[in-house]
Amino acid sequence: MTIEAPERPGKMAGRHQQRVPFMAFVGDEVTRASLLRAACDHGLAAAEVFQGGLSEARDVLAHIPTPRLLVVDLGGCADPLAEIGVLSEVCDPGTRVVALGNLNDVDLFRELTARGVEDYVLKPISAETSDTIVSRCMEEPAGTDGDGGPGKLIAVIGARGGVGASTVAVNIAWMMAHEQGLRTALVDLDLYFGSIALALDVEPGRGFREALENPSRIDSLFIERAMVRQSDTLFVLGAEEALDTGFSFDPAALDLLIEKLRHGFDRVVVDLPRFAARSQANILSARAAAVVVSDPTLAGMRDTLRLAALLRHAAPDAEVLAVMNKVGAGKLGELDKDDFEAGGEVRIEHRIPADAKAMVACAGAGVTLAEAAPRSRAAAALRALGGQLSEAGEGAAKVSLWRRLVGRGS
Ligand SMILES: Nc1ncnc2c1ncn2[C@@H]1O[C@H](COP(=O)(O)OP(=O)(O)OP(=O)(O)O)[C@@H](O)[C@H]1O
Ligand SMILES: [Mg+2]
Repeated sequence: MTIEAPERPGKMAGRHQQRVPFMAFVGDEVTRASLLRAACDHGLAAAEVFQGGLSEARDVLAHIPTPRLLVVDLGGCADPLAEIGVLSEVCDPGTRVVALGNLNDVDLFRELTARGVEDYVLKPISAETSDTIVSRCMEEPAGTDGDGGPGKLIAVIGARGGVGASTVAVNIAWMMAHEQGLRTALVDLDLYFGSIALALDVEPGRGFREALENPSRIDSLFIERAMVRQSDTLFVLGAEEALDTGFSFDPAALDLLIEKLRHGFDRVVVDLPRFAARSQANILSARAAAVVVSDPTLAGMRDTLRLAALLRHAAPDAEVLAVMNKVGAGKLGELDKDDFEAGGEVRIEHRIPADAKAMVACAGAGVTLAEAAPRSRAAAALRALGGQLSEAGEGAAKVSLWRRLVGRGS
């Protein structure tokens, strides 16, 4: 069997590594042609229907984010259950699997579904069946987190002005969306001075302020209209309100918005201004993290400790992380990790080096650091932070949904 998969680098390596909606590995040309036609009818990339069996699927998927819907052919498999188990090792959380086969065996069907396979379809498959299978990748409830729960909320808060909180928010969101293939919403709650849209070179959407003043406006239609699409996986919600416009937002509206977004996306990254962190920490319920960003200064340290204490009190279920940014910029007089940690109140989880040259280059081009200088030390530190936060970083990438669902190995 041959496989016509394009060359792809390691799972987390490339900027173009995105989770595709649909991929199929089938053993015979008739089935392949049928799925290919259905995929084309649905506007999906033809190149994602490969000729091959489970072992080819495993070899290819070990190196790339796995698709939202994966079709595999068990025809010709000596031990389908064992091979499905091995395939599950390389599947990322959130991938749904449909198996095709020649055996009309109800026990096999049961065993497969017990291992998390969504459906088992007998070959040969008609054009109509192909169409039904392919259309499943469209119906997937957008943004379930792969474990069926709401997406994780990550709030990024600067301990002081200008420490790089927005830079951290944009970069980790971009990496989650583009490198980890997670559907990610990036929300800029600084409606007047926010810089997220600018950093990504997108126009801020309309209606965000009005919605935050009036919860009744927040429905799926609003979210669809107001969110600006940066890519298939990254969506931005922000504003650029005139400075003379008044704004009195309703805390209930923010709660509702976050709730809706968590059900529509795998990850919701919020650039949360300090004033809102004080009053809105309650949005950080379970399955949420707050990242307090500081520079290595005394004032930054003081405010990191104060904010971390506030968050731990106001949002006891959330994970609170402290991050040092712009490390090495000032050289003389900079505080280090040990200074921040001396009182035992916070742990510095990540240190992001100062890289003024790369920052200026990406700001000028309207791209993230992750894009402009993916191999820089600053990008690597941001990637490690994003990986930890998304729980889909390198350590967790191979924990399959199947295992989590059925609680057993292959
Ligand atoms: N690691 C870094 N190295 C060098 N420059 C950085 C780094 N991180 C951020 N910057 C720069 O610092 C400036 C402020 O960054 P950013 O806007 O992200 O901070 P902020 O905390 O969101 O600020 P504000 O309080 O205004 O919201 C920007 O010019 C950005 O490019
Ligand atoms: Mg900011």
